[in-house]
Amino acid sequence: MRVISLANQKGGVGKTTTAINLAAALADKGHKVLLIDLDPQGNASTGLGLSAPDRKLTTYDVLVDDVEISKAAVLTEVPNLWLVPSTTDLSSADVDLIEDKSRVLKLKNALQDPVLVKENFEFVFIDCPPSLSLLTVNAFAASQSVFIPLQAEFFALEGLSQLLLTIRNVRETLGSNLKVEGVLLTMFDRRNRLAQQVEKDARENLGELVYETLIPRNVRVSEAPSFGQAAIHYDKYGKGAAGYFALASEFLQRQKR
Ligand SMILES: Nc1ncnc2c1ncn2[C@@H]1O[C@H](COP(=O)(O)OP(=O)(O)OP(=O)(O)O)[C@@H](O)[C@H]1O
Ligand SMILES: [Mg+2]
Repeated sequence: MRVISLANQKGGVGKTTTAINLAAALADKGHKVLLIDLDPQGNASTGLGLSAPDRKLTTYDVLVDDVEISKAAVLTEVPNLWLVPSTTDLSSADVDLIEDKSRVLKLKNALQDPVLVKENFEFVFIDCPPSLSLLTVNAFAASQSVFIPLQAEFFALEGLSQLLLTIRNVRETLGSNLKVEGVLLTMFDRRNRLAQQVEKDARENLGELVYETLIPRNVRVSEAPSFGQAAIHYDKYGKGAAGYFALASEFLQRQKR
């Protein structure tokens, strides 16, 4: 089971959109996938069609009340894709865990749930909030790698060094092997010179880590969540979907390295 965080403390860069569509594209290819919504905004939950009243057991219950993660996971409308939803409750998790000595390891411990292995989950994606808070550190502690979406615009690379430093800190403090899975340029507009410059800078500075696949800016991608559907299903022949299918292929290809 590979556990991968989607993170960038910068807001609105495409973490959730990538989490939903990469997870759904892999599920479409027959891989069994679990998506954990670790953001109190609950965008991944909404985007996969799970309305707030339907979120019975959530990430909060898993982290704070030690509910088994396999009990909190629900099958989405997408075959093979399971979701642990979140609600705004999650925003108080850091305070509620303040006296818990193992608070950084709550998610890691929860993922030891033997049912996940028995049920043959292949990939677990964690959709992180836009911060480097206790929630994100929990995600990093539980993950083998971090996948970083970057929005192709002026401040894209700013803040990246802070993120990479946090990854290194987690590796050193927890003795983990956490690595960077890759960097993905999102909302890319080929005709935009600035976007081209950001791509060039990213490739020069980060080399191989930057995925070949670029996710184009596409209105359908932004509409999909309001229909509770992944963009790859909402507009399956669209440019956004093509981008995410290509991403899933490149992701799988890179797993073999
Ligand atoms: N390829 C795309 N084309 C057009 N719009 C997009 C694309 N990807 C994401 N968006 C839109 O951009 C906004 C931010 O995307 P998203 O919610 O995935 O970012 P995020 O990093 O998860 O945000 P947050 O930091 O708030 O969690 C959303 O409104 C989303 O619909
Ligand atoms: Mg998000």
